[in-house]
Amino acid sequence: MADAKPILKLSNISKSFSGVGVLKGVSLALSPGEVHCLLGENGAGKSTLIKIISGAYRPDSGMILYQDKEVVHMTPRWARENGINTIYQEIDLVPHLNAAENILLGQEPLKKSGSIDWKEAHRLAMKIFDDMGGSVDMGVPVGMLKIAQQQMVAIAKALSMNSKVLILDEPTSVFTSKEVDLLFRIIKDLKAQGMAILYISHHLEEIFQIGDRITVLRDGCLIKTGAIGEFDKVSLVKAMVGREIDFTQRVEPAAKGEVVLSVKNLTRDGVVENVSFELHKGEVLGIGGLVGAGRTEAVRLLIGADPVDSGEILVKGKAVQIKSPLKALKLGIGMVPESRKENGLVGVRSMAENAGYSYVEVTARKGLVNWKSVKEKVYGLIKKLEVRPQNPALKVSNLSGGNQQKIVLGKWLAADCDILILDEPTRGVDVGARTEIYALMQELKDNGKAILMVSSDMTELLTQSDRILVMSKGRLVSEMTGKDATEEKVLSHALQLGGGVQ
Ligand SMILES: Nc1ncnc2c1ncn2[C@@H]1O[C@H](COP(=O)(O)OP(=O)(O)OP(=O)(O)O)[C@@H](O)[C@H]1O
Ligand SMILES: [Mg+2]
Repeated sequence: MADAKPILKLSNISKSFSGVGVLKGVSLALSPGEVHCLLGENGAGKSTLIKIISGAYRPDSGMILYQDKEVVHMTPRWARENGINTIYQEIDLVPHLNAAENILLGQEPLKKSGSIDWKEAHRLAMKIFDDMGGSVDMGVPVGMLKIAQQQMVAIAKALSMNSKVLILDEPTSVFTSKEVDLLFRIIKDLKAQGMAILYISHHLEEIFQIGDRITVLRDGCLIKTGAIGEFDKVSLVKAMVGREIDFTQRVEPAAKGEVVLSVKNLTRDGVVENVSFELHKGEVLGIGGLVGAGRTEAVRLLIGADPVDSGEILVKGKAVQIKSPLKALKLGIGMVPESRKENGLVGVRSMAENAGYSYVEVTARKGLVNWKSVKEKVYGLIKKLEVRPQNPALKVSNLSGGNQQKIVLGKWLAADCDILILDEPTRGVDVGARTEIYALMQELKDNGKAILMVSSDMTELLTQSDRILVMSKGRLVSEMTGKDATEEKVLSHALQLGGGVQ
């Protein structure tokens, strides 16, 4: 169906922000019944392009044709009413409303009296979820749901609106493999029904699994459009990044240094059970498992983000009570959280301010801050992490998704912690920048830091870890050296008990 007549055509679209060209003459055609993948590095202009399609941004020049007619003033409302629906990178649901209320917001079924028929709304929302083959807790505000669930609600909302074009901006970056399978099934159904789908992802395996056509952007320019068969992984990465990258190279296992963190029978009732392990100086200890296995919950206990019910934490041999992230930081433990939106950044502040926050916390003496050293440190990191654009004064909310993730990472790297916990460190980060982050992790390791890394990216887990722990159902179920680990081994352990503590 990829050869069907396009429903949407963009020609020569350009867009600048404050004089900086972000899209430069980009053209793209999207046909019913195809999954068209839009790829490119962080900051390449992917999200900007889809915001133009959805009417959130107005292009400076170029033409949008929808169903053969030129749309001169695309607005979000026009797009929605005419069947173009977008699931944004940063989910935009109303957090205090429940799933049904969000899905049917603005299109609520009415009773004869004219008031909203909530019972019917609930039934309709449940039906959409049933059709999708998923489920969600309708009884709580969506703000309390896990991000993956929120994403599913956003997709259900788009499906409720009779879409002809569905745009998904990195929908799976928060998904488990099971959720990805569900989403792909939904996408295949929609495709069979003739929906045109524009799909953005940094996971290349996904692209080859569901894509029909690929368009690659680099620095706002169109590099190549072609059928999926015209690309392989190597040529695709080269089109995106401009160079070849080897993904299979495993790190040289490090010699074990002294134990810097020791965890004994750590328990948070119902979530994490009797977790014990040791983390050594100069190693990357990976934690694998399925989402819901309790990995994030376990590492949150180590920084005092949640209370511990029983068990012991020893930092460099000394038993400690960690009641808050600030206390953890003072003990030299920093954590790069999983969700940058909730736990990471202050959007209205500059990237330098955000990145410098933890460094200021650890280096301020009696309330006095050495701003010169803060600046040096932070500017150095922004350069090293290749944050784009290289403008430390820029508001974080104006950065692309992947570049925001780099700032979260920078914030904790600046704090110079001896023990660094990274929860999904490269989520949303492009393939090129990923290799930079890995190199940085190796450098930290060589400088005697210890890294605990939760990762759902199997390649990342296998290539970057010296040792791997596998969690399932809130418990540690296996330990292996990075050298001996294989995808099959990690998965078979991760799956042995299923998800969630009983
Ligand atoms: N509102 C804005 N004001 C200023 N600059 C912006 C704004 N929105 C985006 N940009 C800039 O435009 C460029 C492209 O951003 P965009 O979000 O489209 O990238 P992307 O390809 O989606 O990247 P990612 O993979 O990281 O999500 C970036 O350099 C970004 O900083
Ligand atoms: Mg983006």
